[in-house]
Amino acid sequence: MIDLHCHLLPGIDDGPADLAQALDLARLAVAGGVSHAVVTPHIHPGCWNNERSGIERAWRSFQEALDKNGIPLTLGMAAEVRVCAELMGLLAEERIPFLGEYRGKRVLLLEFPHESIPVGSESLVRWLLKRDILPMIAHPERNKAVIRDFSRILPFVEMGCLFQVTAASLTGQFGAFAEAGARRMLENEWISILASDAHNVQHRPPNLGEGRDAAARLAGEGYAARLVRGMPAEIVGVSPVSMREFPAGRGKNGFRAGSLASVL
Ligand SMILES: [Fe+2]
Repeated sequence: MIDLHCHLLPGIDDGPADLAQALDLARLAVAGGVSHAVVTPHIHPGCWNNERSGIERAWRSFQEALDKNGIPLTLGMAAEVRVCAELMGLLAEERIPFLGEYRGKRVLLLEFPHESIPVGSESLVRWLLKRDILPMIAHPERNKAVIRDFSRILPFVEMGCLFQVTAASLTGQFGAFAEAGARRMLENEWISILASDAHNVQHRPPNLGEGRDAAARLAGEGYAARLVRGMPAEIVGVSPVSMREFPAGRGKNGFRAGSLASVL
């Protein structure tokens, strides 16, 4: 499986505090069936002041540590970007990394605050789309505004946003309301990908497989596979069809040549 939203890098956000914790988290992801992951540290000005260059350094260093420790996990890098006033400037200065591309647009993992969908979010999405940036909304099923009123998600569906649902939401680990929202999104075929959003071994583990199993029970094996393999592969730069002929060089967000060939 390919996990497109997880916090595996040590000491960069609210994920693992140090390298030992990060390696434990990576081992658990691999044991659960993840072979490729895009690390997505928070970019949240004033809270997590990350940007592309620092994430890139941390990603390279952590991939080396994985290789040195014999952990068979291939990483790409991106970020989970909070809706904020600084976003447009950060994009203009190319300080935001993207998840990959989809249908000719760069894909940005975009996070609303947990409690609300801020006024102006729809305008921001329109602004992004005009610049060929396609938002993937991170875990809308856990957003309090969506939980109170599911129709709040509709404008973003109509604008063509992608949606990442968290695996643990489908299995009820974020409560009954998030589970209901995740199921409703699954029934409507609005989920683009399932991802772990893993932060730590204890409370936010990388349990993508459990989410995949829940999706398979609810919507069938083929659809579940699309959410954890087909669609993520397409976004990071390798189509399932051409997987074995993936050319030399790196994919859209840094995967090594041919490294996805074993996934499908
Ligand atoms: Fe996250």
